[in-house]
Amino acid sequence: TTISVAQALAGHVPEGGQVSVRGWVRTRRDSKAGLSFVNVSDGSCFAPIQVVAPNTLANYESEVKHLTTGCAVVCTGTLVKSQGQGQSFEVQASRIEVVGWVEDPLTYPMQPKQHSLEYLREFAHLRPRTNLFGAVTRIRHCLAQAVHRFFHERGFYWISTPIITTSDAEGAGQMFRVSTLDLANLPRGKDGAVDFSRDFFGKETFLTVSGQLNVEAFCLALSKVYTFGPTFRAENSNTTRHLAEFWMIEPEIAFADLNDDANLAEDFLKYLFHAVLDERGDDMAFIAERVQKDAISRLEGFINAPFERIDYTDAIALLQKSGRKFEFPVEWGLDLQTEHERWLTEEHVGRPVVVMNYPEQIKAFYMRLNDDGRTVAAMDVLAPGIGEIIGGSQREERLDMLDARMAQFGLDPEHYAWYRDLRRYGTVPHAGFGLGFERLVVYVCGLANIRDAIAYPRAPGHAEF
Ligand code: 4AD
Ligand code: MG
Repeated sequence: TTISVAQALAGHVPEGGQVSVRGWVRTRRDSKAGLSFVNVSDGSCFAPIQVVAPNTLANYESEVKHLTTGCAVVCTGTLVKSQGQGQSFEVQASRIEVVGWVEDPLTYPMQPKQHSLEYLREFAHLRPRTNLFGAVTRIRHCLAQAVHRFFHERGFYWISTPIITTSDAEGAGQMFRVSTLDLANLPRGKDGAVDFSRDFFGKETFLTVSGQLNVEAFCLALSKVYTFGPTFRAENSNTTRHLAEFWMIEPEIAFADLNDDANLAEDFLKYLFHAVLDERGDDMAFIAERVQKDAISRLEGFINAPFERIDYTDAIALLQKSGRKFEFPVEWGLDLQTEHERWLTEEHVGRPVVVMNYPEQIKAFYMRLNDDGRTVAAMDVLAPGIGEIIGGSQREERLDMLDARMAQFGLDPEHYAWYRDLRRYGTVPHAGFGLGFERLVVYVCGLANIRDAIAYPRAPGHAEF
């Protein structure tokens, strides 16, 4: 039977059973005793399996002894308990079939050594073969599955919101425009240059920055809903925390206020970290060894401590009293910068922090105005080591107030007519948030750069592959 490396290492067949494992060579070592040890990985788990190849194999001299890192093989033999330390089972091969050779092994970009992350980014198509990207990929998968499980268990419905849209959900003007181009018959201006300003079937459209407005409509009918999909931001920020294309999870709950929202965010993050610790111990052990020493204890600490909640106004006062020299000014009415967020969560509290009730002028038009008239019911969840990972709010459910805020932000009520309808027909207090999925992966894996948290990062100057 053909089994995965994960199954083989777990002793999936009775000891002494015949198995085939398929995968790619990590390393080969030849012993003087006429044996070769070939480590084979298929990505099903962190560890490769050791395949012991005796020199009695028909292709031992002609092929096995020429295997190099990256060669694809099918290894058939007996699954036995391994004598070597660290390994549970190994395959005593009776046959090794080479399916794909690596041409010119000396120039193979993924040599079996530690490469810099900058180097690996230039090989987005080959870096999945490394230990680190295998681990990050499996952890990311585990988190995505846990996201759906969390909501499903709590009676939320998953809504697929559109990617092409006419609305700027955040009102920040950071959208990519969508054009219809007939490649065979490109529209040309007078000067003969291609006219890229063509619309989506006659209407100006963009790639979505958030599914929130769309999912609010479903919230006001199905009560508990969420989105999980790609979102796009044309912010020209070349930072380690921003991508032009990232995945966002946006739950939305009806008959709920900002505190309900913060409770949901806390339960949600803790559930996700539990899942990683339960299911990806092998990958997290590697992360702890190679990337972030306290990767595991950090998540445990996160799970076990209640999140601190503080008002924006108090956060500003704390920052001003900190005696710390910040690069950006700290002043009531200005947004918090990463350095401020990190000071709050890392140095002041030492735990995740939920900052609530921001000045109304720095937050999106849909956020609910508080009774003080100067703040809105917004919250950001800040995590040590990264800063903002969640942004959310209670929504403005009162039509007159929403209209006032839209006017203040210069938004055309006509354009948001459908969104206003939600306030005209059976409006209720409701709230939600957005979790940046790559920021979550960055946090869990202790990565320094968000470009390593997604398979093919899209950022200014990065669109190849
Ligand atoms: O704070 P943001 O802009 O909030 C929204 O989009 C709301 N509509 C969410 C909601 O209430 N339903 O974005 C939410 C999160 C941020 O906290 C951050 O984690 C992530 O999305 N994010 C980015 N991640 C990577 N690259 C970028 N350019 C990001 N911009 C936001
Ligand atoms: Mg935000």
